[in-house]
Formats: sequence, structure tokens, C-alpha cells
Amino acid sequence: MDRWTRICRLDELPVLGARVVERPGAGNVAVFRTATDRVFALRDRCPHEGGPLSQGIVYGERVACPLHNWNIDLKSGCAIAPDEGCVQSIPVRVDAGVVYLGVRADQPAPAILQVGADD
Ligand code: FES
Repeated sequence: MDRWTRICRLDELPVLGARVVERPGAGNVAVFRTATDRVFALRDRCPHEGGPLSQGIVYGERVACPLHNWNIDLKSGCAIAPDEGCVQSIPVRVDAGVVYLGVRADQPAPAILQVGADD
């Protein structure tokens, strides 16, 4: 991770929901907000069969995939046993109410383009 890119304000993320950030050529990212205002970012692609995790149900620090209900840990990106597999976790931070996504130098800057299922 080489730089931080501002993607939105914290209050633009739905509580217990997600926004989708497009990264051209690098796969979309789902940015989640928990009930306690913690923020996590995962590639928006379930490790099972590629379901859109951004449209899943957030509970605690997990998301339930909308397709077959696998439960994914928001911090690690890994499925909760007995399921197996992980999705890429993306660096994210919140500073003064603004959400920043970590971006590698060889990637274009991301931008919020889509709205999660809670909107
Ligand atoms: S695609 Fe996510 S549980 Fe099957």
C-alpha cells in the first residue's frame, strides 16, 4: 500500500451496510461500516462463488454473503469455519470522519460509484 485515497465521509457509509468502490483493473471493493462505526474493506467477491459481499448482511464484524450465506470475517476476509477461503482485505482508515482506502502505486485512484443494498 503506497498512498491513502479519500473515498467518502464516514456518515456516507450506511450503518450495517456497505458502499462499492470501483478500482479499474483491480476489482471492486466493498467498504463496510459496523454498528460501532468500525470500517473494513474487502474485495467485493465472495471466496465461495464470487457473490457480491457488498449486498450481504453485516452483523458484528462479519458479513453474510447474499448468495449462499457464507459468513466472512470483515477484518481478515476469511470464511468462518466450516467454510474455507479468503477474499482480499484492503487497507482502510478513518480520520476526522473521512474514510481513506489504501492504494498501491500501480493502481488508479478509486471512487465511489455504486450504492450497497441498504440504500
Ligand atoms: S457466493 Fe458467497 S456463499 Fe456462495
